[in-house]
Amino acid sequence: MPYTVPKLTDYSEAALEKAASECIEACTAESAVVRNDADLKSFRDRWMARKNGILTQINDLWLKGAPKAAKREAGIRVNELKARVTAIVEGARVTAASTDSLAAERVDITLPGVRRAIGAEHPIVKTSHEIVSVFQKLGYSVAAGPVVETDYYNFEALNFPPNHPARDTQDTLFIAGQQEKPQRERLLLRTHTSPVQIRTMEKMPPPIRIVIPGTVHRNDPPDASHSPMFNQIEGLAVDTNITFGDLKGTLDHAMKALFGSSVKTHFRPSFFPFTEPSAELYVTCFICGGSGKRGPDNAPCRPCKQTGWIEVLGCGMVDPNVFEFVKENGYDPKKVSGFAFGMGVDRLALLKYGVDDLQYFFQGDVRFLQQFG
Ligand code: DAH
Repeated sequence: MPYTVPKLTDYSEAALEKAASECIEACTAESAVVRNDADLKSFRDRWMARKNGILTQINDLWLKGAPKAAKREAGIRVNELKARVTAIVEGARVTAASTDSLAAERVDITLPGVRRAIGAEHPIVKTSHEIVSVFQKLGYSVAAGPVVETDYYNFEALNFPPNHPARDTQDTLFIAGQQEKPQRERLLLRTHTSPVQIRTMEKMPPPIRIVIPGTVHRNDPPDASHSPMFNQIEGLAVDTNITFGDLKGTLDHAMKALFGSSVKTHFRPSFFPFTEPSAELYVTCFICGGSGKRGPDNAPCRPCKQTGWIEVLGCGMVDPNVFEFVKENGYDPKKVSGFAFGMGVDRLALLKYGVDDLQYFFQGDVRFLQQFG
């Protein structure tokens, strides 16, 4: 039975107390079942509406009908009661509001979640990391240097004297407006990672074993096998008594770690201004296994141009002239020796993943890149 306001005949303290607590009990019980805004509205109207709400009725029935002697006492009681009922109605509002928003925020944990796309290493970065980690396991550290470099570090300190024809092999992109500066200070986009050899030797005395992954630039128009921007990994080891045997052993090990233990290595004499002697390192083609032919019908192997060998890097013993530039930091060419190497990462990634156009790597097309994720 819903609560109705009783008429009062007995205005004793006990009777007033009883009537008031029945009223509060009823109000509290009704507030507990308020579940939403609609419930709340009718609950509030029922109790608080000016016209005929329960509080108004109490006012009319209990106060106006009170005998003179009991008026004061009844007034105090009714005011107390109004305050308590108002508080209950207000409380119910809060409860109803929070029940509503909790309901709105409810999560069905049995539904499948929102799957977010996870990025992946770019195939070139991945290849670069693989190469670097082979050398890290041999105790090499990783060094880095600026992409915008001075003529001094890119050429002069690497034993490319000013106007030396060896500079022509490095189709260089120069920064414009540098004519006012002395030549060695002029800025350019580094054409190789080799300048970081000098930068690191200036900072760290021997012994030194470092690899330097990085971006380089050359004035090469983009095509299937060229790009004006590409990536290299440089290596440098300097100590007392480093020999060409160390160079061969280290690089032979690295190639087997990278391409498989059955790969063979082969060194051919070459020229670089900063190494003497210099060599190019070839590995047996990891596509055709060194035969120069592919498949059951003996199709010519393209990656190695049917030679069975793939050129992977340039290397050599650090030229004493290079050490002269960092002699004060402990690199006396009479006391130390070292070897260096530099390889192109992009071409190795191209061969490794069987991609036929270098440009795919740089176009940022997700459909291409997703295949490596
Ligand atoms: N810097 C050379 C280039 O980009 C590659 C190279 C050859 C690096 C021999 C070396 C090296 O450290 O010893 O063509």
